[in-house]
Parts: sequence; structure tokens; C-alpha cells
Amino acid sequence: MAKDFRKYGPWGLVTGASSGLGAEYSRQLADKGLNIVLVARREDRLKEIAAELESNHGVQTRVIASDLTADGECDRVARETQDLEIGLLVNNAGYGMFGYYHQLDSNRQVNMTVLNCVVPVLLTNVYLPRMLERGRGGLIFLASTAAYQACGSLGTYGATKAFNLMLGESLWKEYGKQGIDSLAVSPGFTKTEFTEVAKAKDAGMFRVATADAVVAASLRKLGNGPSFVHGLLNKFLNFTVRISSRRMVIAITHAMLKGRSERA
Ligand SMILES: NC(=O)c1ccc[n+]([C@@H]2O[C@H](COP(=O)([O-])OP(=O)(O)OC[C@H]3O[C@@H](n4cnc5c(N)ncnc54)[C@H](OP(=O)(O)O)[C@@H]3O)[C@@H](O)[C@H]2O)c1
Repeated sequence: MAKDFRKYGPWGLVTGASSGLGAEYSRQLADKGLNIVLVARREDRLKEIAAELESNHGVQTRVIASDLTADGECDRVARETQDLEIGLLVNNAGYGMFGYYHQLDSNRQVNMTVLNCVVPVLLTNVYLPRMLERGRGGLIFLASTAAYQACGSLGTYGATKAFNLMLGESLWKEYGKQGIDSLAVSPGFTKTEFTEVAKAKDAGMFRVATADAVVAASLRKLGNGPSFVHGLLNKFLNFTVRISSRRMVIAITHAMLKGRSERA
């Protein structure tokens, strides 16, 4: 039976909605009847996607152009959505940085940590209490297969994704009985702008998923468990990580990732 997304309505808010997985969350949630607040820096892209959602799905949209890492911006997003019932928060905006720690720009590493970790906390602070008052809602946190083990050559990024995995799963337990479905979503390599932004070479031996497949499968999982890992191979690799020694997993992961950095 198809899931009833009215539980997560009437509005969903998607961060990083201007490309990749965020644009796809916006499309698929609009297709399920949710009005969408689209947040990211590139206003032109957001407006284009918003127009597409309105004309293809007959939903309402609101565009908020914001660098979410700038001081006070999460507060501004909160103010600009005060009049809306946000039933689903998709904490998706994020980026990665491939390379050895000392090769990476330190300000950008800090900025990545703020965007990937602090921003989801700030926005959850805004929308979760209102969901609790209504007794229904949903929270999605973009983790990654990089969240399940240390990732030499992608270390800080992997750590930020572990943060999202743990937080998303914790909130599933804390609030499930109060009608709030939290889900940590872990895609493997997925075709978006991520690789270019992260300065990674192509996926090499890894299989690359499409954003629409990842999003569709994760939305099926929402409300049905704390965590979602996309793809059979990724699920199998996660299982092997759990039963192997940490030292060995760290060495293998580093060997697989180190050649993928453009900085290598
Ligand atoms: N693609 C993968 O292989 C993969 C795998 C696992 C997890 N993920 C996770 O999936 C999420 C989405 O990434 P993606 O793959 O869809 O990459 P993407 O195509 O590069 O999308 C990233 C989004 O984040 C937004 N963003 C970046 N900096 C921002 C800022 N300072 N303020 C507001 N928005 C900002 C970007 O929009 P603007 O540039 O317009 O601001 C863009 O919409 C990320 O959290 C990523 O860690 C991706």
C-alpha cells in the first residue's frame, strides 16, 4: 500500500535543494503532494526548480536563498517559515573534501563541518518542537556509507556523516512514539555535483547510483526504521565492516579512497 505522506505535510523543507539529492527530494516530495520550501545559495536554480514543482505537481513553493553557514542564517530561515506548518525537514545540504587532512584548506574544513553538522542541529531545534506540538512529522539526515568506518583521505567528511547517522538514529528512538519519524539516509556514490565539489576523481571501482533511485528508496523507508543504506553492495560492505577488525577496515578503506583525491 502506498504510504500516506500527509503525515509529513503540508510543507516540507529541503536544504541543498538546488542540485543533486536535494533537488530530487524536492521533486519526489512535491509529487507526493507536499508544498516545498527550497533552501540553498543559488537562487536562480532554486527558482527554476520551484517553478517546475508548481507546474508539474500543483504544489506551493517558497524559495529561500541562503548560505546556511553564515551567521544568523538558520534564524532567518526560521523567521521566513514561521507562518508555515513544516511537517518534514530534510537536512540534506552538505559537501565533502577529498585529500589528506593537511592538504585541505582549513577554513573550508571548518565550513564543511558547520554545514554538515551544526546546520542540521540548528534547523532541527527550530522545527522539531513544532512537530511535537502537532504529534506528527519527519526528519531526514543525510549520512553516507562514509559514516560507518573511518575514511582516510576523506576523514573530516566521514566524521561529519557519522554525526548525522548517530543523530538521525537517536532521534528515531527518542521521538518515534510521539509520531515523529527520523531517518538517517546513507547513499553510496551517487551521481550529483558532489564529486566535483569534493575534488574527487570519478568513482573508479564503485557503482554510481542515481539521485532519483536513492531518494525514492529512502522515502519508502521513512517511518520504517532508524536507518537506510542504499544498494545491496553497500549493505553487504556495512555488514563486513561490523564483523571485521577496525584496524583492517581503516586500512582497506584508506587504500580504496586515497587514489580518488584530485590532490593525490
Ligand atoms: N553524492 C554522493 O555520492 C553522496 C553520498 C553520500 C552522501 N551524500 C550527501 O548528500 C547530500 C547532498 O549532496 P549531493 O550529492 O546532492 O551534492 P550536490 O549536488 O553538490 O548538492 C549539495 C547541495 O548543498 C547545497 N549547499 C552547499 N553549500 C551550502 C551552503 N553553504 N548553504 C546552503 N546550501 C549549501 C548546494 O547548493 P548551493 O551550491 O546552491 O548552495 C547543493 O544544493 C550531502 O549531505 C552529501 O554529504 C552524497
